[in-house]
Amino acid sequence: MSDIRCIGICTGGGDAPGLNAVIRAAVKAAILKYGWKVIGIPDGFDGLIWPERSRELGLKDVSGILPRGGTILGTTNRGNPFRYRTVEDGQEVVRDISSDVIANATRMGMDAVITIGGDGSMKIALELFRKGMKLVGVPKTIDNDLCATELTFGFDSAVHTATDAVDKIHTTAESHHRIMVVEVMGRDAGWIALYAGIAGGAHIILIPEIQFSVENLSRCVLERERHGKHFTIVVVAEGVRLPSELLHMSRGGSVGNLIGDAIALCTHKEVRVSVLGHIQRGGSPTPFDRVLATRFGVAAVDLIANRQFGKMVRLQQERITPVDIAAAIGHMKAVDRNGELVSTARAVGISFGDTNSVAGSPTVQELLAKST
Ligand code: F6P
Repeated sequence: MSDIRCIGICTGGGDAPGLNAVIRAAVKAAILKYGWKVIGIPDGFDGLIWPERSRELGLKDVSGILPRGGTILGTTNRGNPFRYRTVEDGQEVVRDISSDVIANATRMGMDAVITIGGDGSMKIALELFRKGMKLVGVPKTIDNDLCATELTFGFDSAVHTATDAVDKIHTTAESHHRIMVVEVMGRDAGWIALYAGIAGGAHIILIPEIQFSVENLSRCVLERERHGKHFTIVVVAEGVRLPSELLHMSRGGSVGNLIGDAIALCTHKEVRVSVLGHIQRGGSPTPFDRVLATRFGVAAVDLIANRQFGKMVRLQQERITPVDIAAAIGHMKAVDRNGELVSTARAVGISFGDTNSVAGSPTVQELLAKST
């Protein structure tokens, strides 16, 4: 028999479609399956600094939130109770207020806390756990770059949004005979670009895991021209590594614009750039993400019931299983540049702008000369 009576729940880091679905599932399972009370903590662990801002979440509070993007609890990707920043006498001061946070959770009657967040939030969760807080984690990021879980909720929704954008870009690119560059999110890994690029029928995909060169990009565009394809769609992950020839041009703007300028310069073609940005983080979660988020939410509550603190839920071979937060954090899941997904893309003619171009193919200069 569990001695749990009340749990807290918070969301930390950047938002992702499906956060509300996790909150709803956790609240419902806690109340309906275990008869617990649930307290919603606003804006990540920062919410525990001001206990009066937390509020009880009943079934009514989570009614209707399943299809809603964002998080009803609010979030921040700056909060860290171990390094809490305030301004005192005009000076920024960094304090460790983690003991207050833990004491406030106890004072509010929370026997355990569910934290939903990415790698950064899980690192904070681990520190709090080691300091005595009973908590469990639910992984989240639209980037899908956490090693511990095969998928994170939010990714499918982001890919859906990005693919929809690529589909729309396609028709205007074709009508105007233009090169269209679509920059998608993916700070460290190219999952969104790879999936949306394949799903949207892009001709070039640029990801952090595969080094491209402007020469190869331009050659791909001009080769298409030579074959009567007067438009090209380039999907770029925001975290792509710029080749040395572009580094000196970088003035801190979007990589999509930089790459677009370089292609225009080399191919003499008209280029337009769309940076999708936070559109990918918003909107209603896809059915897949709603189901995964619901499974994560229920599994997190079950972890607490089984007193498996310091653990995180994850998707492993179609099943939701627990993993130690300590083992889960700090390991990024990159796209395998030699993996099946990349070779599938190559097999349907998608270029990654790398050096693996067809041996003996003409140079950009030769292609330009032929086209004039
Ligand atoms: O990690 C998720 C993510 O959306 C990245 O793809 C992106 O680089 C980053 O967060 C943006 O963060 P912010 O909301 O702070 O601009």
